[in-house]
Amino acid sequence: MSRQTRQTGTARQTGQGRQSAADTQAAPQAAPAPDVGPGRARQAQIYRAGALGQQPRVPADADGLERRARRAMSRRAWAYVAGGAGSGRTVRANRQAFQRWSILPRMLAGAATRDLGTTLLGRRLPAPLLLAPIGAADLVRRGADLLSAAAAAELAVPYVISSQGCSPMEEVAAAMGAGPRWFQLYWSTDEALVDSLLRRAEAVGAEAVVVTLDTTMLGWRPQDLNLGSLPFVQGIGIAQYTSDPRFREVVAERLASGRAGGRPARVTPGAVRTLVSVSRRHPGSLRHNLRSPEPRAAVEAFLDIYSNPGLSWDHLATLRERTSLPIVLKGILHPDDARRALDLGVSAIVVSNHAGRQVDGAIASLDALPAIRAAVGGGLPLILDSGVRSGSDIFTALALGADAVAIGRPYLYGLALDGRSGVRDVVANIVAELDLTMGLSGVRSVDDISPAMLTGPSSPSP
Ligand code: FNR
Repeated sequence: MSRQTRQTGTARQTGQGRQSAADTQAAPQAAPAPDVGPGRARQAQIYRAGALGQQPRVPADADGLERRARRAMSRRAWAYVAGGAGSGRTVRANRQAFQRWSILPRMLAGAATRDLGTTLLGRRLPAPLLLAPIGAADLVRRGADLLSAAAAAELAVPYVISSQGCSPMEEVAAAMGAGPRWFQLYWSTDEALVDSLLRRAEAVGAEAVVVTLDTTMLGWRPQDLNLGSLPFVQGIGIAQYTSDPRFREVVAERLASGRAGGRPARVTPGAVRTLVSVSRRHPGSLRHNLRSPEPRAAVEAFLDIYSNPGLSWDHLATLRERTSLPIVLKGILHPDDARRALDLGVSAIVVSNHAGRQVDGAIASLDALPAIRAAVGGGLPLILDSGVRSGSDIFTALALGADAVAIGRPYLYGLALDGRSGVRDVVANIVAELDLTMGLSGVRSVDDISPAMLTGPSSPSP
């Protein structure tokens, strides 16, 4: 549902968001007044802990968060997570795009309470925020998907399960209780695998399938290339595949045809590390896997079929008959593609350049947003990602036409610093700042955040 048609949230639903935000640190528990909102509740919690000499493990600012997380991550993890395509121009552009817009706060609006709630694909959310699909997150911390998904569920924030996840989607769903989850699909060259993943996503209660369009091949990523590091080769980020019955058939066919599983040409320490990593992550016992050609064949099969460089609108046109789930297209930047998605009958679009990891020099997501909103009109929900770091950024994105945003790297940084609590604190901090930004700008509900609240490159001075 677009912001133009978005319903107003109930006090109870908004209260759920507050409760979750208020629970984000173990001790001491602040008991905020019931109506202060997530911003003041979070401040109170942090300052009360501070009065007892405790400082938050998760910095409250995006730069501090990134700096501290970097120190907690391995070189390979940092390269994979923070790295971008080519020179990093689009990674920087994603942030610079936000800097070009300024909020024009209004005074004396009496915005004592704010409603951050929004309805997306028929589900009421406590805030206009999702956790983006992230692959290979075990590089950051073992059990990453389960920890992140559980944190999201606690906050009632949708968690988008990645095709490149490190835990099978069934396990992720089990860790989430009733928390909202979507499934992100990389369209395989094996159509039967596409169908199998869709069936599983339906079975685990995914509320949408998000088809990522911008990664039909991996972008040119120098940080990873310079380390010769690709997590999937280590068996990290292929759990949706190794847990899939159709994928296992593909691997079996490969082995039967004698095409895979051979030993490496040279036995080096690196080759041994890779063998152990792949064997440890493959289903079954480590002992068995170390001797079996199957885990290595699985990696090779994955690399062959995980994505389809020839993906086209013809493929997408088949999707409606293949799943009952609402379809969300991720990675759209051009207004014509957005119009085409609308014609196809999709339920939402994610305006995204994949965090600047695919096409160096691609337009910043935020810069692409206004033209896409104009192209699709008010009826189609738009989710913006790539470069969102704060509540103030969410405010800006909503003012420029987004219905919600997704965050990626920031929650991984929280994960690196403090596991599940770290993810929760990052989300709580961002939501807190959105609440305070709204209140201090004279806005009572996310529906009231409009282009008139911004001044920027193309807007006249008031
Ligand atoms: C991603 N992203 C991503 N997208 C997707 O559709 N499937 C995936 O498996 C992944 N994996 C992934 C791994 C890592 C380490 C990053 C940083 C990103 C893209 C992600 O969903 C989202 O578009 C961006 O991360 C949003 O930008 P920020 O918030 O990271 O700036």
